[in-house]
Amino acid sequence: MANSHLLLISIVLMGSLVAVLAAGNFNDLTEITWGDGRGKILDGGKGLSLSLDKLSGSGFQSKNEYLYGRFDMQIKFVPKNSAGTVTTFFLSSQGEGHDEIDFEFLGNVTGEPYTVHTNVYSQGKGNKEQQFHLWFDPTTAFHTYTIVWNANRIVFLVDEIPIRVYNNHESIGIAYPKSQPMKVYCSLWNADEWATQGGRVKTNWTQAPFTATYRNINIDGCVVKSGASSCASRSTDSANNAKPWETHELDAKGRNRVRWVQSKHMVYNYCEDSKRFPQGYSQECKRSRF
Ligand SMILES: *[C@@H]1O[C@H](CO)[C@@H](O)[C@H](O)[C@H]1NC(C)=O
Ligand SMILES: *[C@@H]1O[C@H](CO)[C@@H](O)[C@H](O)[C@H]1NC(C)=O
Repeated sequence: MANSHLLLISIVLMGSLVAVLAAGNFNDLTEITWGDGRGKILDGGKGLSLSLDKLSGSGFQSKNEYLYGRFDMQIKFVPKNSAGTVTTFFLSSQGEGHDEIDFEFLGNVTGEPYTVHTNVYSQGKGNKEQQFHLWFDPTTAFHTYTIVWNANRIVFLVDEIPIRVYNNHESIGIAYPKSQPMKVYCSLWNADEWATQGGRVKTNWTQAPFTATYRNINIDGCVVKSGASSCASRSTDSANNAKPWETHELDAKGRNRVRWVQSKHMVYNYCEDSKRFPQGYSQECKRSRF
């Protein structure tokens, strides 16, 4: 009796572990939308590579649109001299006055650090950039990049370490992305006009094609189809049904980690750029960063 209980419990536990670790398939979740063969599905959909040469970059997007969710992607970036290249993983709605949540990774010359660029647009208005250097070389191994987006906040994470929290500040009149469903977009393209060291370093095409690889895509979100959200029926149930990302907030450990990243690894903060915003910073800059 005791043994069969134990067995049952371990089967249930294993089931939930598998559910957490199970990665989505790129064939099911996404479609390659541009690049004329430069985007390639790998390993039956377990991975996807994008490449860039002088003629074109490439990109893919999710088939579904989401309104809130947790979006995980493992990425290995263009190695060595990646100056001028930009690899992206972002969410965006379509049309005018769009909302957008950005992770962009700006390449660099060999030995110099990538820059992780983050931004949030609401109703067409961005200007909320924060940039970071990573505490590891993102070109030699896969690392996990995550966007958590719920009604209260947006959290950017790298290997589960929160690097930025953007709170819903509607109470002080700042628009927040909350009604326009978004798709996931990823791309590799040439941006040597501005990307590397302010545009001073150009892409060295003798080293093309450049390649970035994606794997372990995981989307746990509310799919929106013909105006209806897959989470709507659930939200009328008890709050106990909420998924972890729906109530995601930082505990003391998370707040310490953001403080660590922001004090050691942040290289740009729109809330501190007085040259660009001589009339003063956006209201949310005066609020706690959590
Ligand atoms: C490239 O390296 C330089 C020098 O270390 C650094 O200032 C810059 O932020 C790095 N990233 C980009 C995208 O230029
Ligand atoms: C581009 O790369 C090639 C091959 O590595 C190198 O010989 C050349 O000097 C590089 N060009 C520039 C402008 O750095």
